[in-house]
Amino acid sequence: MSGDTGMKKSSNVVWHQGLVTREMRERQNGHKSVILWFTGLSGSGKSTLAHAVEKRLHEEFNCATYVFDGDNVRHGLCSDLGFTEEDRRENIRRIGEMVKLFLDAGVISLTAFISPFRQDRQRVRDLVGEGDFVEIYCKASLEVCEQRDVKGLYKRARAGEIPNFTGISSPYEEPENPELVVETGSLPLEACVDQVIDYLQNHGDLPRLRGHEQQRAVAAG
Ligand code: ADX
Repeated sequence: MSGDTGMKKSSNVVWHQGLVTREMRERQNGHKSVILWFTGLSGSGKSTLAHAVEKRLHEEFNCATYVFDGDNVRHGLCSDLGFTEEDRRENIRRIGEMVKLFLDAGVISLTAFISPFRQDRQRVRDLVGEGDFVEIYCKASLEVCEQRDVKGLYKRARAGEIPNFTGISSPYEEPENPELVVETGSLPLEACVDQVIDYLQNHGDLPRLRGHEQQRAVAAG
């Protein structure tokens, strides 16, 4: 059972606009809300990078952040879903709706889902709107991910124990026009984190004179 994607069963419901708006929350937080959508093969480093970026945003830039991780979300919100194409579509659809609410909440969401299908990622982009969706391709070859095999899943997939395993028996569609490509298969973690932070700074998503510059200013007295 994967839910009826696109089929609305709730009628007679009206969106209730709150008295506190996204803009008011952003102003209070001192930064824009945005979705950092990390995509890539299992073992490509999505979660590791998302958590490391979150730590920097939290500690150095004092941002309101939250990481949504594939394995965690599948324990709860999406525990009824498996790994068929249809279930993955529903998985990504629900996450898209969730992070849309977090945009309104003024938060920087960092998502770490394989999200292997272009169309599913595009659907989230369309849902939340261009500009609020930063697609970050965590690029690592299948060989590298399989060699790492942190969870031992590739070995089991090769042995035929896990059906529809991304990269082995289910496709991964590389992003065609992601905002960022990060070479997580070959670069050290800190270099990858720098790349994401630089992107956000260059696009005005982060508070100015916080983080490094501010720390330096404080240190200099
Ligand atoms: S997605 O394709 O729907 O985006 P998601 O990111 O939520 O996938 O979950 C991927 C995680 O589930 C992997 O990191 C891995 O630990 C686990 N997993 C279990 N079965 C599979 C499978 N068949 N294919 C890929 N990942 C799997």
